[in-house]
Amino acid sequence: MKIKNFISVVFLLIMASVLLLSFNYRKTSNSNNLNAEQRMKNGRKIVLGLCAGCHGSEDGKLAGKHMKEMPGMVGKIIAPNITNSVENGIGKYTREQLRILLRTGIKSDGKRSFPLMPYFPLMSDDDVEGIIDFLQSADYAVQASEQNLGKLKLKFVGRMWAKSVKAGKIPQSRIENPDTNNTMEYGKYLTDAVYRCFECHSGTMKVNFENPRKTKKYNAGGAKMADMDKKKVYSRNITPHKETGIGNWTLEDFTKMMRNGVRKNGRNSRFPMLAFPLMSDNDIKSIYTYLMSVPPIKHKVKEYVPK
Ligand code: HEC
Ligand code: HEC
Repeated sequence: MKIKNFISVVFLLIMASVLLLSFNYRKTSNSNNLNAEQRMKNGRKIVLGLCAGCHGSEDGKLAGKHMKEMPGMVGKIIAPNITNSVENGIGKYTREQLRILLRTGIKSDGKRSFPLMPYFPLMSDDDVEGIIDFLQSADYAVQASEQNLGKLKLKFVGRMWAKSVKAGKIPQSRIENPDTNNTMEYGKYLTDAVYRCFECHSGTMKVNFENPRKTKKYNAGGAKMADMDKKKVYSRNITPHKETGIGNWTLEDFTKMMRNGVRKNGRNSRFPMLAFPLMSDNDIKSIYTYLMSVPPIKHKVKEYVPK
C-alpha cells in the first residue's frame, strides 16, 4: 500500500470513529422525560431551595416577605405570598399563567414583574412543570396562608431598574432535561438555567439571560449588594482564577459552602447568598465541575466585614 493511501485509510477510520462516538454521545445524552414523582421532587428542591429565599415566611411557608434589605431608594419591595390562598396568594393562577410567569416574568395581570423576581428561559420543560406541580400541591409550604403584605411601592430608582430589564420570551420548542450523569452538562444547566449564579456573580446589572456566558465578566464577582442588616456585601469571584477566584477550592470546600453556607475563609456567607441544604452530592459536584471549566478571570473583589 502506498503511504498516501495508507494515510487516507487511517483518516477515514478516524472520521468514522468520531462519527460513531458522537452518535453514541447523542443517544445517551438525549435524556428521558421525568415521571411525575421525579418532576415533583425537582420542583420541590427548586422551590424550597431558591424561591423560599425570597418568598419564605417565618412559619416555614411561602407566605411572602418584606425585603427590608433592599436599599430604601429602590422602594418598598415585597416578595408576595405564593401559597395557595385564592384571596391573598396565587390560588387563582392557572398552570398556564404560572408557566408564562416562570418563562417570561409576566404576571397574571399582564404586567411585567419587578425584575428581582427571576424568570427562567433556559430551564427544562419538566422542571418548569415540576415547580408548578409543587406550587399547586398539598405540601405544608404552599398550604393557604392569609398573610397579606400589601403591594410593592417603587421609587424612581426602582422604576428605572424595572424598566431596564425586559421580559423573556416563551421558548419556541420543548427544552429537554440535561443528562444528570454528565457532570459538565448538568452543572452548566444548574448554574446558568436554574440557580442563575451569574446574575449576582458577574458584577453587572447587564446580564444576558438567554446566553449567560455572554455576560461580561461572567462570574467574576464585584456586585455591591446588601445583607439582611442592610450592611454591604460584594458578590465574589467564582471563576477558577487561582488568586482572585475559587481556583484553589477543593470539592470539599465548595460543598461546605453550598450546603452549609461556610466559606473557605471560615466566615459564614451572608445574604443574599443562600445555602442549599437540599442539593444532592451530584448537584454540587456538577456545579463545581462546570465552574472550574469556565475561563478564569483575574478580578479581586473587596471584602467587607461588618463589625
Ligand atoms: C430574589 C427574590 C425572588 C426569588 C428568588 C423568587 N421570587 Fe417570585 N417574586 C419576587 C418579587 C419581588 C415578586 C413581586 C414582583 C411584582 O409584583 O412585580 C415576585 C412575584 C412572584 C409571583 C407573582 C405573585 C403575584 O401575586 O402575581 C410568583 C407566582 C412568584 N414570584 C413565584 C416564584 C417562584 C416559583 C420562584 C422560584 C422559582 C420565585 N418566585 C423566586 C421575588 C423573588
Ligand atoms: C442573589 C445573589 C446571588 C446568587 C443568585 C448567588 N450568589 Fe453566591 N454569593 C453572593 C454574595 C453576595 C456572596 C458573598 C457573601 C459574603 O461575602 O458573605 C456570595 C458568595 C459565594 C461564594 C463564596 C466565595 C468566597 O470567595 O468565599 C460562592 C462559592 C458562591 N457564592 C457560589 C454561588 C453559586 C455556585 C451560585 C449558584 C448556584 C451562587 N453563588 C448564586 C450572591 C449570590
